[in-house]
Amino acid sequence: MHRSSLLLLNCVLVMSLTQGSTSFNSRTDFDNLCQNIWNSAGSNLKIGQEIVLYSGRKAKPLITLTKQGKAKVQTDVFVKFQALLDNYEADENLHEKPSVTKQREEDAFIDAIIKTNRGPMQIVFDYLRKKGKVSMKCIDQFKPVLKEMWFEKYSKRGRGLKSSGFEHTFVGELGYSRGSNTKITKGFHNWFQFLTERTLGRLTYHPPLISKDVSVEPALVRARFQWRGKRKPPGSSFFVGTSPDFEMALYTACFFEGTNCSCKLNGKQLSFKTIKFYNKRNILTAYPTV
Ligand SMILES: *[C@@H]1O[C@H](CO)[C@@H](O)[C@H](O)[C@H]1NC(C)=O
Repeated sequence: MHRSSLLLLNCVLVMSLTQGSTSFNSRTDFDNLCQNIWNSAGSNLKIGQEIVLYSGRKAKPLITLTKQGKAKVQTDVFVKFQALLDNYEADENLHEKPSVTKQREEDAFIDAIIKTNRGPMQIVFDYLRKKGKVSMKCIDQFKPVLKEMWFEKYSKRGRGLKSSGFEHTFVGELGYSRGSNTKITKGFHNWFQFLTERTLGRLTYHPPLISKDVSVEPALVRARFQWRGKRKPPGSSFFVGTSPDFEMALYTACFFEGTNCSCKLNGKQLSFKTIKFYNKRNILTAYPTV
């Protein structure tokens, strides 16, 4: 069958599946959305059982994985996520070499986070459609939008196309802060990248945590650390144990909702931001606040 007719068939199927669901109303919609995103993310790691979070003052690792946790990060969405983490130059002033492999890895990741039937991104897409914030009929047509939001490179202060929302948010960058000649770490709001870089010996964690909210999942921390020898001032906030499809869905929802988002999840009030580049198409950064 021709590719476009396959796509169409897929659209029709999705539409008939989503028809008949209840209509949304009022402020609680966004709370429900967050809860549904969380409930549908199959790969979140359970604190204590799969991931151990140390929040004391001793110089110990912040995060370690148990045997079950190690198995969980071998699942599809984590594998596709991990493949992206080495696609970037850490220095924000260096160009990344474009390659077919990198493009394929980006597409494979987007496919992985949308393909799950009733997965987090599907839930966000249905919400946006019902709210009239997107006009596509099916999630396959939403893929180019996600790719543009997260992976299209933008130019910071006219210095060339060297950053993307994905890189800044999930991987981190090294650069100078405005009006300073000290190189620092910027972005870097992901626990899995934190764990990966520490394991590779490129990240030093400086306890204690600046702040934390770990009693109810999702756990959130704000940590001080150095990455590739450069400090992250004033520390970085990130979720702990969350699946990449959960974070991508939550931040994507916030992109359409506004810059400052908050919702109730598992009974706790969660605040997070998705900041747009001035072109309003790309994501500059996204992170939870704690
Ligand atoms: C978001 O919140 C910050 C304060 O944390 C405020 O300075 C900013 O103006 C807010 N942005 C929007 C778009 O409301």
